[in-house]
Amino acid sequence: MNVRTTISIIKADIGSIGGHTKPSDEVMEYCKKNLEQEKGKLLIDCYVTRCGDDIELLMTHEKGVDAKEIHSLAWNTFKAGAEKAKEQGLYGAGQDLLSDAFSGNVRGMGPGIAEMEIEERPAEAFIAFMADKTEASAFNLPLYEMFANPFNTAGLVLDPKLHEGFKFEVHDVKGSRRIIFDTPEEAYDLLALIGLTDIYAIKSVYKKSGEIAAVASTEKVNLIAGRYVGKDDPAMLVRSQSGYPATGEVVDPFARPFYIAGWMRGSHRGPMMPVGEKDANPTRFDGPPRIIALAFSLKEGRLTGPVDVFADPGFDDARRQANEMANYMRRHGPFQPHLLPPGEMEYTTLPGVLKKLEDRFEKI
Ligand code: F6R
Ligand code: MG
Ligand code: MG
Repeated sequence: MNVRTTISIIKADIGSIGGHTKPSDEVMEYCKKNLEQEKGKLLIDCYVTRCGDDIELLMTHEKGVDAKEIHSLAWNTFKAGAEKAKEQGLYGAGQDLLSDAFSGNVRGMGPGIAEMEIEERPAEAFIAFMADKTEASAFNLPLYEMFANPFNTAGLVLDPKLHEGFKFEVHDVKGSRRIIFDTPEEAYDLLALIGLTDIYAIKSVYKKSGEIAAVASTEKVNLIAGRYVGKDDPAMLVRSQSGYPATGEVVDPFARPFYIAGWMRGSHRGPMMPVGEKDANPTRFDGPPRIIALAFSLKEGRLTGPVDVFADPGFDDARRQANEMANYMRRHGPFQPHLLPPGEMEYTTLPGVLKKLEDRFEKI
């Protein structure tokens, strides 16, 4: 029998303790309880966690992607959770819930969404990635490594099931357009776009047969709000093993920390630091940007796990390197390349400062 299951991550920052650090235990407990109540009803299973100040609702069900009931459950959980956060005086309480008029889908309302409907394999394995203080295009480099770089993914060379390559769906996050590339055939064209992380973000990856392999949340909360409300702090689901990159191949790109946009005020370049769940509390200069990775097994929608992948001492050196990279960047203070170029900061206060100075420029 073919079991079709949907895995949904819906995430939002609804307030955190003492700055943009982590939600309170009380708000986390409330969100957990609210989802647990739906187990055996709307949901098959669920797992609630957080990365930095973002609460991540991971849910399994049979309703498909963009299902009204699932989005409502997440929205109502966040709404009520934000009320609790307000009662506790948490910072930025409800900051990602941008509208009061919920219309059945949280897309465009502030929360980030990564969902995939799959036909379960006999032993389905997937990894949920969740990041804080960065944007969706931070996944461009690691997704390329996982699914298109044989120096990362040995299976692309060695495993006949991976050898034909994958398809990448790339979104122009400002232009509301998308384009699909085949790899390895079009790897250079793909790279020409996804290296421009201020414009293009990989939305999903498919096997050549059309089965989903990975999906990321690409909602731009600032574009939705029309003002600065922080970076999007994306989440991503990646399937692994038998026909997909092995779990070890999926997570290895994060052992080589790379620079991304985000960090303090969403306006700085910094390293992506892989950490275990308990260490996902960005504090130094509101960072460095963090990512957690949780590996699950799935059977008829039921979750087993997770394994907290980046808690592995195998990632200790990546953390050390990321701290060193952070030190290099912090030396630059308000200078580029630590500071992002103006186009990438359009929703911070910088445009206001530049506008104020406009009249004082003299021709030379
Ligand atoms: C980054 C982020 C923080 C804040 C910073 C200032 O995404 O959320 O770095 O931008 O702490 O916050 P406010 O303006 O709320 O004082
Ligand atoms: Mg926040
Ligand atoms: Mg955040």
